[in-house]
Amino acid sequence: MNVFWFIPTHGDSRYLGTAEGGRLVSHDYMKQVAVAADTLGYDGVLLPTGRSCEDAWVTAASLIGETRQLKFLIAVRPGLSAPTLSARMAATFDRLSGGRLLVNVVTGGDPAEQESDGIFGTHKERYEISDEFLKIWRDVLGKTHTGGETNFEGKHLSVKGAKALYPPVQAPYPPLYFGGSSDEAIDLAAEQVDVYLTWGEPPAAVAEKIATVRARAAKAGRTLRFGIRLHVIVRETTEAAWRAADELISKLDDDTIEKAQKTFARMDSEGQRRMAALHGGKRDKLEVSPNLWAGVGLVRGGAGTALVGDGPTVAARLKEYADLGIDTFILSGYPHLEESYRFAELVFPLLPRKQNETLPGFNLTGPFGEIVGNTHVPPPAAKPAQQVSES
Ligand SMILES: Cc1cc2nc3c(=O)[nH]c(=O)nc-3n(C[C@H](O)[C@H](O)[C@H](O)COP(=O)(O)O)c2cc1C
Repeated sequence: MNVFWFIPTHGDSRYLGTAEGGRLVSHDYMKQVAVAADTLGYDGVLLPTGRSCEDAWVTAASLIGETRQLKFLIAVRPGLSAPTLSARMAATFDRLSGGRLLVNVVTGGDPAEQESDGIFGTHKERYEISDEFLKIWRDVLGKTHTGGETNFEGKHLSVKGAKALYPPVQAPYPPLYFGGSSDEAIDLAAEQVDVYLTWGEPPAAVAEKIATVRARAAKAGRTLRFGIRLHVIVRETTEAAWRAADELISKLDDDTIEKAQKTFARMDSEGQRRMAALHGGKRDKLEVSPNLWAGVGLVRGGAGTALVGDGPTVAARLKEYADLGIDTFILSGYPHLEESYRFAELVFPLLPRKQNETLPGFNLTGPFGEIVGNTHVPPPAAKPAQQVSES
């Protein structure tokens, strides 16, 4: 399993939908989250893009020097920049970070936001642009290694003699991740990307999606890897975790939920529609499948579900997704710094994943915990049983 965390570039909360306990997301704070993820052994962090976010490239670049092994999964909206500029930015970031760039291709699902950025096409046209963008982007970066140039004439995008002179560390180019649930999205993923990402839908729906993407990719003679984006609320007991879930929305009023749902309803994103359908804007039936809670999606766009439980429960639920073919888990929780620790401490030991032995600290055998009476090293903790407790 690859486990990623998340840099909260659009804010961090203790209680959703209020400023109470809200945190200033400054460079210092993002640095703390990134350093925590790096030293705890997360494989990478996702940085989203959109007008509600601090810029993903600039933020990630500010964190390269603060981290040692952490990969940066940077979201890129194809319509927003020229493919050659984006390719050169990717190559530079990959070079400056020593090969730590991953790219998340996101077409975007809010026409009002897109129009505010000067993109007026329909959903279908936006995917056509993404398709052409990626063809150019991949070709330009692929050819940096051999010195060739790209000529492409598309319906929306054309380049003549395009090139980038500095090749990325990763050849032919940094791996391409991708999120999108519509038919157009799945066609594009099948043909051009390396890892297909889904938001955290119930396992049966995820299984169906994986089967569809796999079948389309097979038609194109390709295979893909799969990832899932989920929040987590992990505590020492499952009861405490459910209490924390309730607390997270305890100060959220119905007007705020309605306002958020109205915004989501105007979007043309199939993925967002599927997220909103899980709870229908109502807070009475939020456990949409065992331990999968849709409370976050009452007000948060995009990833709207959380796995809730104690360590063994959450580990078991993640393994259910892994059994469906998911190998990459992109997680987050509120507040992002504290939950990154809770997840790593309570769940990492239960997951089938390789520890990164090059990380400082991983070769240590302890002591873990404060020395007792200036003399005694605390005995090692018992490994928790790997079982799902009833919720
Ligand atoms: C894991 C994941 C992460 C995403 N991150 C972003 C993002 O950072 N910015 C964004 O505009 N859209 C993001 N999206 C949404 C995509 O832009 C997607 O294209 C949008 O939902 C509309 O596509 P659809 O109608 O095919 O679902 C993400 C989607 C997934 C699954």
